[in-house]
Amino acid sequence: MYDLLKPLLFRLDPEMAHRATIRLLKHLPLGLVPLSEKSTPALKTILWNRTFPNPVGLAAGFDKNAEAVAGLFQLGFGFVEAGTVTLKPQDGNPRPRVFREPMAEAVINRMGFPNCGAAAFKENITAFLSRRPRPNGILGINVGMNKDQTEPLRDYTALMRSLGPMADYVTINISSPNTPGLRNLQEPSALRELLTAVLEERHHTCGGHPPPLLVKLAPDLTDSQLADIAHVILDVGVDGVILSNTTLGRPETLPEHFRAEKGGLSGRPLTQDSTDIIYRFYALTHGKIPIIGVGGISSAQDAYDKIKAGASLVQIYSGMVFKGPTLPRQIIDGLESLLKADGYKHITEAIGQAHNTRGGTNALSA
Ligand code: FNR
Repeated sequence: MYDLLKPLLFRLDPEMAHRATIRLLKHLPLGLVPLSEKSTPALKTILWNRTFPNPVGLAAGFDKNAEAVAGLFQLGFGFVEAGTVTLKPQDGNPRPRVFREPMAEAVINRMGFPNCGAAAFKENITAFLSRRPRPNGILGINVGMNKDQTEPLRDYTALMRSLGPMADYVTINISSPNTPGLRNLQEPSALRELLTAVLEERHHTCGGHPPPLLVKLAPDLTDSQLADIAHVILDVGVDGVILSNTTLGRPETLPEHFRAEKGGLSGRPLTQDSTDIIYRFYALTHGKIPIIGVGGISSAQDAYDKIKAGASLVQIYSGMVFKGPTLPRQIIDGLESLLKADGYKHITEAIGQAHNTRGGTNALSA
């Protein structure tokens, strides 16, 4: 079906194609795919006291306003991360700001967090949560700061206050390359200050039922930057990391006109770098911090590689653009076969297994 639709969608501007997809998903009749029948015991994952029906999620940026969460669960995702949402609505950068390169299965975007703001986002989440029965899956909320904010802590704490109680987990996005200054929040002292403030706000707002707090990082960090970040994260008590966001890197193999576009690169050219940073972070932290692995996953093998490098869960975005809406189910089915072939009974047995075969770690002395 997607093979028939794809040439039409690819003739549209990428953002128009995306808008059409969100509209379709928004109006997808519930119950098309009986998710309960699709439950896969070998893949069911319990993490942070939450039950993920399977470890394959949708990455942030696809459903920025949480408009189509129920429809996205119908595609088989075990979890959906809505956002990035900012406190106030904003338009983002001028268009065009998303570029596809089908031969390389790559995307460059410089969207700059266009979204309807926290109030509209909250209404959409409220509508989703009031559905009966609530679709069986985990809802993450990814938050970011407005472009004109000079005091990032204000936005991140306000977003935790307003949206934290509705989320199964909250992700702090400090790694999109398209908001000036955002990536500076990965610098250790800024990061410590930010995370401490957000964790404090979580304690005040959510009391005994705090949503796990995750941080989403860039793939472009050096070993020493990553070690500093790992140290802060372990120290302040963040619950997990997402590795990784898009890259500023531009492999030489990409066509010149495409490489020249400013923004973050995702899809196939990011696959190896994001798997490598997962491997490095897992080694640094002795696997103590759960990792969501994302970047250039377009097959079950890609997902499995990230799990073996140390990811407990995975997410996809660009892969869906090129492979279509059946990709989550293909990955779920393929993961089950890959586990069986390696003699594992459950997905958790495969997490970090690459560290036993590659040997040697660079662990921080804890
Ligand atoms: C993104 N991504 C992203 N991430 C995020 O945390 N907040 C966001 O708003 C967005 N927006 C966004 C828009 C577009 C058009 C793309 C392609 C990507 C990054 C995304 O969640 C993911 O981390 C990377 O794209 C790497 O995964 P894939 O796309 O290679 O599977």
